[in-house]
Amino acid sequence: MNFLEEIKRRRTFGIISHPDAGKTTLTEKLLLFGGAIQEAGAVKSNKIKKAATSDFMEIERQRGISVATSVLAFLYKDKKINILDTPGHKDFAEDTYRTLTAVDSVIVVIDVAKGVEEQTEKLVSVCRMRNIPIIVFINKLDREGKDAFDLLDEVEQKLGLTTVPLSFPIGMGYDFKGIYNLWNDTVRLFVSESKTTVGKSSLIKSLSEPILKSSIGESAKDRLEEELELVREVYPSFDRDTYLSGQQHPVFFGSALNNFGVQELLDCFVDIAPTPQPKTSEERTISPQEDAFSGFVFKIHANMDPKHRDRLAFIKVVSGTFARNVPYLHVRHNKKLKFSSPNAFFADKKEIVDVSYPGDIVGLHDTGNFKIGDTLTSGEQIHFKGIPSFSPEHFRYINNADPMKAKQLSKGIDQLMDEGVAQLFTLELNGRKIVGTVGALQFDVIQYRLEHEYGAICNYENLNVHKACWLEVQPNSESDFIDFKQAKAKFLAIDKQGQLVFLADSAFTLQMTQSKYPGIIFHATSEF
Ligand code: G4P
Repeated sequence: MNFLEEIKRRRTFGIISHPDAGKTTLTEKLLLFGGAIQEAGAVKSNKIKKAATSDFMEIERQRGISVATSVLAFLYKDKKINILDTPGHKDFAEDTYRTLTAVDSVIVVIDVAKGVEEQTEKLVSVCRMRNIPIIVFINKLDREGKDAFDLLDEVEQKLGLTTVPLSFPIGMGYDFKGIYNLWNDTVRLFVSESKTTVGKSSLIKSLSEPILKSSIGESAKDRLEEELELVREVYPSFDRDTYLSGQQHPVFFGSALNNFGVQELLDCFVDIAPTPQPKTSEERTISPQEDAFSGFVFKIHANMDPKHRDRLAFIKVVSGTFARNVPYLHVRHNKKLKFSSPNAFFADKKEIVDVSYPGDIVGLHDTGNFKIGDTLTSGEQIHFKGIPSFSPEHFRYINNADPMKAKQLSKGIDQLMDEGVAQLFTLELNGRKIVGTVGALQFDVIQYRLEHEYGAICNYENLNVHKACWLEVQPNSESDFIDFKQAKAKFLAIDKQGQLVFLADSAFTLQMTQSKYPGIIFHATSEF
């Protein structure tokens, strides 16, 4: 297979959802249909969750929350599918945002009974900002839930998506009879059988087959026909280019737990989902077909093996090929590095790989060279854009609780911040260090990891900060800026990139400061 064919057969995507909508279950079922695993564990049984393929970290096992973002690759119909798993817990949302910079499309899972939930809204809005193509999977049809049309409405209203149903349920909950696949005019009848292996459910080849009526009953068939008529009247017909430009959003219905509707989703996904896409850098847009290699770090995973302090940097290949033992330019350090054991990830294992193509994720062993957002290239000075830091929600002073371990603490904090676990701000006035996180849980994670991985003990002190704002000074506003810095010296800090940040203690202060200094723009993200 040549280089262009390799690119064309890759599909790199993420699954996002509000916790408990069924993301983990769907991921496992996709792997099952892809033949990547033989049997899906009853995912939720904690026993199995402990050994689940996407769990790496001790802390995750302890808490049963999917902290890690991992990569699961498999072949399906000769396509190379790369699923980037994202943590569902909201405290790790920033991790998910970063992963979304490395996907070419997403599948959003929605619980039929709960509809669109808070976390779904946030994540979808990030995808929409970047025009990432989105497919919606409405899950748990084996349970009583909202009416399909009401749900489609809700998805349109709350998520701002233009829905195009590509499958439609026949009944729901107790009455759930199956799914009509508009994509290829087939009906799959629902049988709740083995949940752990791919069973055989009956497929009816068309709506006009007489067996359909005898299988689901006359009234269900009549109702389905009425509903389909409405679907065709109300919703636009599917157009792949419109979907690829992020303007139209196919919807599937099913039950991941029951392996139902998953194959329809996967079959359509491999047909329509985008191949690896170009990526913009500060210098220019890089196309996957370019010969020269380029890629960027979107995730750093620490200490898979707690006995060794190694880290794994996850690189998304943007263009060219990444080969083992070839020197590549680490742009930020302006130095060449080569890697003797780059890892590729599969559903059940990781292994050393000689060549990776655009769309692939490579795991590189790292002893502290990388941080999130770093670019690697064949030699060109490229800086990929689009991995901004968002203002954290929680802020605390971090203190050293063991004076003998100051060095360990500082190294630990440094490395955890490079991984993107949290953000560090250093107060200009007195050099005190402040940790900012998306969720309160991360403070525990940091404390735990500092102790177990670096042998350092820290404690926290509360601090009243509402938002961190990155500053942009408008032309001819230098004197405004000097005044501002004098007046707000107590609230100014430097982030890890050396950028100046204003730590506003309340929404009111921020508003007042903004109106007092119109020559300064206060940004909620580090990239503007
Ligand atoms: P998440 O990754 O999005 O957080 O969700 P996860 O897959 O862990 O699923 C959350 C719960 O929803 C699990 O149940 C799972 O079994 C259930 N679930 C997933 N898909 C379906 C479905 O199609 N139908 C039904 N009825 N349930 C589904 P749990 O109660 O948390 O665990 P367990 O007691 O079932 O193990």
